[in-house]
Amino acid sequence: MFKFSKRVPADGTDAVGAILKAAADPKIISFAGGLPAPELFPVEGMKKATDKVYAEHGQQALQYGAAKGVTELRELILKRVKEKENVDAKLENVMVTTGSEQAIDLVGKAFVNPGDTVLVEEPTYLCALDVFRSYGANFVSVPMDEDGMKMDALEEALKAHPETALVYTVPNFQNPTGRTMPAERRKKFAELAAKYDVPVLEDNPYGDIRFAGEHVPSVKSFDHAGKVFYMSTFSKILAPGFRLGWLVADPKVIEKLTVLKQSADLHTDNLVQYVVTEFFKENDVDAHVKEISDLYGKRKQLMIDGIKKYFPKDVKYTDPEGGMFLWVEVPGVTDTVELFKQCLEHNVAFVPGDPFFAGKPQPGTFRLNYSNMQEDQIEVGLKRLGEALSQALEA
Ligand SMILES: Cc1ncc(COP(=O)(O)O)c(C=O)c1O
Repeated sequence: MFKFSKRVPADGTDAVGAILKAAADPKIISFAGGLPAPELFPVEGMKKATDKVYAEHGQQALQYGAAKGVTELRELILKRVKEKENVDAKLENVMVTTGSEQAIDLVGKAFVNPGDTVLVEEPTYLCALDVFRSYGANFVSVPMDEDGMKMDALEEALKAHPETALVYTVPNFQNPTGRTMPAERRKKFAELAAKYDVPVLEDNPYGDIRFAGEHVPSVKSFDHAGKVFYMSTFSKILAPGFRLGWLVADPKVIEKLTVLKQSADLHTDNLVQYVVTEFFKENDVDAHVKEISDLYGKRKQLMIDGIKKYFPKDVKYTDPEGGMFLWVEVPGVTDTVELFKQCLEHNVAFVPGDPFFAGKPQPGTFRLNYSNMQEDQIEVGLKRLGEALSQALEA
């Protein structure tokens, strides 16, 4: 009846939507979500900041604004990326986006023509796959190990695909695996981007949420050729409902993306930009981030304890030093969606690994969320999951 464009996904392809729907039944303990802990949203502080913005800049905040974002907020972002990531950037290098998801979308729109090659981690963030797919990307998956994307494999892929339009990476506490890439690999990554003259989109929503180990400098901090575009977000350290993210890149890239952003939404919500800027003036955001990290660290540990106690012994899992997810591999499983259904019968849910793979999925993999899991539910949920896995493996 309607002739949708080729960008629109075909009916029945929203596998994750179907999974989340199935997992929404209240009797199910669901590790399938991907949300930050709402009990730590700084509601009172935001309320105060909002009141102050209305009192002091009400008219400006409610007016149309600049496509690149509110200057004071862009300055604040620059200060933060310098302090946290050792990225030296100027105002011309930074733009505010409507969630960091929009940065992925704008970069996809600007760099990917139908049929272009995009290199991605195997597995990777599924909404990024959806974005690049909507622009007609041909994916080439680059294998990972416990330390993230393998650089020898990346170089091979770059040699085999000189037409590569973009490389996409999540080096910190990756969604879905929780893996983190060490500094040496990041340095090599930036060198390969320069050598093969290919843009890299470094997506870092989780880097600040570290509860163990040492901070690792961004890929961007090793980038002397201007090939790396660095993006992050306030979603995980303040609240996702604001839809506030940013991108740091070469000014020529920022200029083009600004034009595309104007077509998409003219600019990001002005009021929210003023409120977050004000919130930073009045609050110790680093202390707040530490509180979030401590809570997620505690929940992650409960997950690891439960997995050790209840999962069959040959099941593999990651033990992240930060972020919101861990990744499980169950050897011997051939159909993860079938496994998901069996787990639902035990009233427990996860996100099957399949949609995180651009190519052939690795069977028996799935993602577990812990950031938004109440502590008393974690052990009960993992016990159910362990029983379901044991039964599935015996069958
Ligand atoms: C890897 C990754 N990138 C980007 C995003 C988008 O975040 P937001 O648009 O809220 O900034 C997410 C959200 O979960 C994510 O996991």
